[in-house]
Amino acid sequence: MKLYQVNDYQEMSRKAANIISAKIILKPQCVIGLATGSTPIGIYKQLIEWYKKGDLDFSEVKSINLDEYKGLDENHKQSYHYFMNKNFFYHVNFKKENTNLPNGMADNIDAECDRYNQVITNLGEIDLQLLGLGHNGHIGFNEPGEEYKNGTHCVALSESTIEANSRLFEEGEVIPKYAFTMGIRSILKAKKILLVVSGKDKADILNQVLNGPVTPKVPASILQFHNDVTVVADKGACSKI
Ligand code: GLP
Repeated sequence: MKLYQVNDYQEMSRKAANIISAKIILKPQCVIGLATGSTPIGIYKQLIEWYKKGDLDFSEVKSINLDEYKGLDENHKQSYHYFMNKNFFYHVNFKKENTNLPNGMADNIDAECDRYNQVITNLGEIDLQLLGLGHNGHIGFNEPGEEYKNGTHCVALSESTIEANSRLFEEGEVIPKYAFTMGIRSILKAKKILLVVSGKDKADILNQVLNGPVTPKVPASILQFHNDVTVVADKGACSKI
């Protein structure tokens, strides 16, 4: 793994945006795996800025997102569809048909998982997969457990994840307890993985991910087995490495 230790969130966002930009400039028809959460927001802002300056073109780029809450439709303010539109897609020239997220409103869970697996297969290789890191080591919504789940699945979110993500919901809003997520094998099949981590509150888990044993109890630790992982983390997040 290659680790870039940077000073702060701003620098993390810029460095990661540079890595993503390089991929898009060198391969305009690339497939990029995208993530949600607070961490990548600064990256999307930076990419939008460069797009507006005319330095980036997303017209041929294809995207695949990691996950979506079950039960939220794309107009729901807490859905990841809404997040991606608001923080990225609406500001750049992605073609809608080139963007992909799980359908949180699907009635048939198995059919939706099969559909999303097929979307991933049809895209061919993911050239670069962007990942954030949950406080319990989750990537996408692959929560800690006894085993890794390979393909897209519907997961019961852990109490700590529900608690962590509740900060983004307004009072009285029902927080989803289930989500669809891309599986670990699909993530690991990406050619290159870019993990971004910010803040002291992630220092313990980042240390476990990088230096601890590889175990499904810390899902992101499996990244140690991938041959092209770049981690961009700020001082706070690196403080226990
Ligand atoms: C959510 C997402 C993850 C994300 C994680 C961390 O659970 N499903 O993909 O990495 O939150 O979010 P944050 O960056 O806000 O800490």
